[in-house]
Amino acid sequence: MPTRPDLLKRAADHAVAYLDTIADRHVGAMATGDELRRQLAVPLPDAGDAEEVVIDALAMAGALGTVATQGPRYFGFVVGGSVPAATAADWLVSAWDQNAGVYVLSPIVSVVEDVTAGWLKELAGLPAGWSTGFVTGCQAANFTALATARHHVLNQAGWDVEANGLYGAPWVHVVCSDESHYTIFNALKLLGFGADRVTRVATDEQGRMRADALATTLESLTGPTIVCAQAGNVNTGAFDPIDDIATVTSAHGAWLHVDGAFGLWAAASPTRAHLVNGIARADSVATDAHKWINVPYDSGVVFTAHPASHRRAMTLSAAYIIESARERDPHEFVPEESRRGRAVPIYAAIRTMGREGFGALIDRCCTLATHLATRLRADDRLEILNEVVLNQVLIRVRGAEADARTKQMVERLQQEGTCWASGTTWHGMSALRLSVSNYSTTEKDIDRTADAILKVV
Ligand SMILES: Cc1ncc(COP(=O)(O)O)c(C=O)c1O
Repeated sequence: MPTRPDLLKRAADHAVAYLDTIADRHVGAMATGDELRRQLAVPLPDAGDAEEVVIDALAMAGALGTVATQGPRYFGFVVGGSVPAATAADWLVSAWDQNAGVYVLSPIVSVVEDVTAGWLKELAGLPAGWSTGFVTGCQAANFTALATARHHVLNQAGWDVEANGLYGAPWVHVVCSDESHYTIFNALKLLGFGADRVTRVATDEQGRMRADALATTLESLTGPTIVCAQAGNVNTGAFDPIDDIATVTSAHGAWLHVDGAFGLWAAASPTRAHLVNGIARADSVATDAHKWINVPYDSGVVFTAHPASHRRAMTLSAAYIIESARERDPHEFVPEESRRGRAVPIYAAIRTMGREGFGALIDRCCTLATHLATRLRADDRLEILNEVVLNQVLIRVRGAEADARTKQMVERLQQEGTCWASGTTWHGMSALRLSVSNYSTTEKDIDRTADAILKVV
């Protein structure tokens, strides 16, 4: 039986070998579900298998059954990789095995959250006094922010929603755009607002909420109101005009939530910060760290301008829970109680990149997205459907049967394996959608990707 150090080193060796070869492998998974099941679905052992056998089996299956999302030519969804310091820090989190619910359970995570929250607010251009919660992803961040909004606007209307629920509560208007991310609607569903009972505001051709249309909508609404805007459309990368929207919402006394899953981090870039002008005028902001900060899954962050409402919306105490009078109790800002030290890898990523390194990462991804669009635009069989303002590129085949041929292009590209990107539908048109979000992607990777796309076309 291996000693604990031997076993941990064995797992580390597997992990290093995996990462060392990731840039050269077929980007999509190389085994089917059935093949993986044949490797892994052993009868439940009575006595337990040897530790090294189990770790080796997982490593072998993982080499085939993972998608190389950590690699430089994965452009699906908006994923991002993990910078080495963040992966290493995440290993420490597992070794420490801390329950980061309250300070007494883990002073280290409480303090790391505190410090990291300060850095993130600085990078995002948010006021230092805002509250911060470290959650699993932007879905959870949207949920937490909108729960805080629900508390705040109903409290102002004299209603305690945490005590009484929504039965008999004053009506809350929720205003979204035609292009709000589906996780906003999922959060509204979970919060009892209903996913369909929202007022939708029209967007422009890039998917940006129209501030003039929002103003008209708000004129027709009275009473508690929550407006959901977006920094970074998941297809086009476009930004709602946050400053103009903030002017409209504050005149109406509405809560302004901004979903900035990846787009928020434009704030850290010297060349893209203008895209989030006015972000500090919002009431809440949701984002991800596992996307563009390049830390391991899962990692999202929520910020609010109203710490007391944030706490009240999230916290129900119990007699045996020891809360700290002067230190941060992380559970006060998130829906979970027991939880992992998610801020630790973010701390490592930000501290090792620094302000300049992180800004350069954002800039580089945007420049590479532009380079890809420029290369593909030069081929008259293809068109780029979006203004490439950030890191997202939408590509479509021109001419007859464009939808069918674009879908074929997506399928063949995934089979070809140089890179991985997925399909989408933009304004009724099929498109290949690429998101450049990984710290390790280079211009050479983009050129290889452009060559692969042109080859399958
Ligand atoms: C704009 C936007 N909001 C929310 C999300 C959901 O994020 P997560 O999957 O991390 O929960 C995404 C994911 O791509 C997104 O792009």
